[in-house]
Amino acid sequence: MSTTSPQWAPADKKEHANDERAQEFAAQYPQRPIPTDQPFHTDPLITSPAFGLDELWKAIEPETRTRANDIHLPVVVAFATRLCDAYPQADRDIVLTAALLHDTGWAHVDESRIISEGFSGDWRKAAIRFEHEAEGVKVARRVLPGLGADEAFITAVCDIIDGHDTRHVPYSLEDALVRDADRLWRFDLAGISLSCSWFGMAASDYVARLEREILPELITEVAHAIANADLERSRQLLRTEVIR
Ligand SMILES: [Fe+2]
Ligand SMILES: [Fe+2]
Repeated sequence: MSTTSPQWAPADKKEHANDERAQEFAAQYPQRPIPTDQPFHTDPLITSPAFGLDELWKAIEPETRTRANDIHLPVVVAFATRLCDAYPQADRDIVLTAALLHDTGWAHVDESRIISEGFSGDWRKAAIRFEHEAEGVKVARRVLPGLGADEAFITAVCDIIDGHDTRHVPYSLEDALVRDADRLWRFDLAGISLSCSWFGMAASDYVARLEREILPELITEVAHAIANADLERSRQLLRTEVIR
């Protein structure tokens, strides 16, 4: 069993070459994974659920009925809450609102294409991925004004929802925290269970893939630490060294 510590490195300039907003963010946070001087912990997520935002949860209740969003979204919001605690310079309201809304668009696309297109091949470039982001922006624009959000706040939230899967690079710390929370979900036991079922993969193969493909994509030091701790726990619990 391996515990990978983050490889400290500068932000990849090539990756951001053609995108001004991404370049600006990379210049602002040149070290990757992004470190923090705040205390943080890596306890299992179930020990630190997120609270609040009840009106927003109620407003998107129909959207929680698709693609296990009633599990995915609360888990992502709970991870986002923990990341906001560790990076207090991020705007917490924007992060948590974007995390809560980011995948609501799945409820407004052709459900039969979610698995066939959205989870296969080069899934980041699948048309259905762009569609669920655009539909998520529409949901945000539908529900947020009635809850008292102003245009600047709504735009900031929509900028994160739009491109959260299909854009390769983050534009802000808020964007980075939502991306990390969305990826951390896969490392939680709930995410492993649902993903194995969606992808038709054995748990041992799936956790190996998490370490190989998803872990390196995490942007913050805290997300790396949480992912490594979750990986280690899941490997032990699921006996992945034995059941292969
Ligand atoms: Fe998504
Ligand atoms: Fe997501």
